[in-house]
Amino acid sequence: MGKIERDPITGQYTTGHQWNGIRELRTPVPIWWMLVWIASIAFALVYVYLLPSIPLGDRTTAGATGYTARLNLEAELDAVRTARAEASAQLAELELSEIVADEELATLAFNGGRSAFGVNCMQCHGAGGGGQIGQFPSLIDDDWLWGGSLEDIWYSINHGIRNETLDARFALMPAYGDFYEQAEIEDVADYVLALNPSSPEHATRDQLPGAEMFDLECSACHGVNGEGGRDFGAPNLSDAVWLYGGEREEIVAQIINPRMGVMPAFGERLDEATIKMLTVYVHALGGGEDVASGETAALQ
Ligand code: HEC
Ligand code: HEC
Repeated sequence: MGKIERDPITGQYTTGHQWNGIRELRTPVPIWWMLVWIASIAFALVYVYLLPSIPLGDRTTAGATGYTARLNLEAELDAVRTARAEASAQLAELELSEIVADEELATLAFNGGRSAFGVNCMQCHGAGGGGQIGQFPSLIDDDWLWGGSLEDIWYSINHGIRNETLDARFALMPAYGDFYEQAEIEDVADYVLALNPSSPEHATRDQLPGAEMFDLECSACHGVNGEGGRDFGAPNLSDAVWLYGGEREEIVAQIINPRMGVMPAFGERLDEATIKMLTVYVHALGGGEDVASGETAALQ
């Protein structure tokens, strides 16, 4: 420890420390810094007194104001729930056409429908409604089995397809493998392939050996030109969109022993507002139509 003395250059005192003749100046913290520091401590004390702050395992000290972030969250959630309940009641009451005509409600329904779709429909119809080839139809194109108007889509979602409920959409394609020879079935499959206007045999398809069987057995559901029939959920066979695949052997397999898609009736699981939101969402995915069912694909 050296002697405390005044530094002749700065006029400040030294600390008395000295190393090889180098002496350390006593430089006190500036006043403003001290004030900020004291104010911070005062603030912390007031904070700890008023608000929950010191963690105690699964709790924290309760502040004098009784405020907790959780209470605040509850209050906010309550507000959201009330707003949502009002919107739900409104959606449940209105006609689908009224919902889509109102921009604000339509947006609300679309967003609600999208999240409900992620929970209820995605496992079959895919994340964006793109479907899964060979199993579940795409909902984003304008190729509809049962119809693409708001009412048609609502019915498909509410009552489902080929399930055990009374009002489900229902039609079964017969298993032709039980009454026809393999060769006859292959002939009619060739005729089905010729229904597509881009097929080289399209113009002369009436001369194909399968033509007669198609007229007799298939046209009642699928239409004389294979354009599909929505009363039976019978797909359009003349376009490039296939539910169960457009290869010859896939078509033959479907005719021998048809696969029949089943969809649950969501009216039994979800409330009316949610069904309507889903309808608006699916309708907006890309293939929504204005016409009511019955106006078949032939009109498109
Ligand atoms: C278990 C699988 C499954 C689930 C879950 C499912 N679907 Fe489907 N959905 C199907 C099948 C299979 C079909 C086609 C039935 C057929 O072959 O006619 C279908 C058809 C449809 C159709 C008719 C399509 C058309 O072309 O006419 C709509 C609309 C539809 N689904 C919407 C939904 C919505 C919305 C949800 C969720 C609320 C949903 N689906 C959940 C299996 C499912
Ligand atoms: C009672 C009505 C009905 C009759 C009759 C019928 N079908 Fe179908 N057919 C359907 C339905 C419904 C589907 C769709 C099945 C599904 O959605 O799961 C279908 C699907 C198909 C498919 C699959 C289409 C695709 O997109 O993958 C082919 C191919 C087909 N039918 C060919 C025929 C042929 C050929 C005949 C006559 C020998 C015939 N159908 C008779 C109702 C019928």
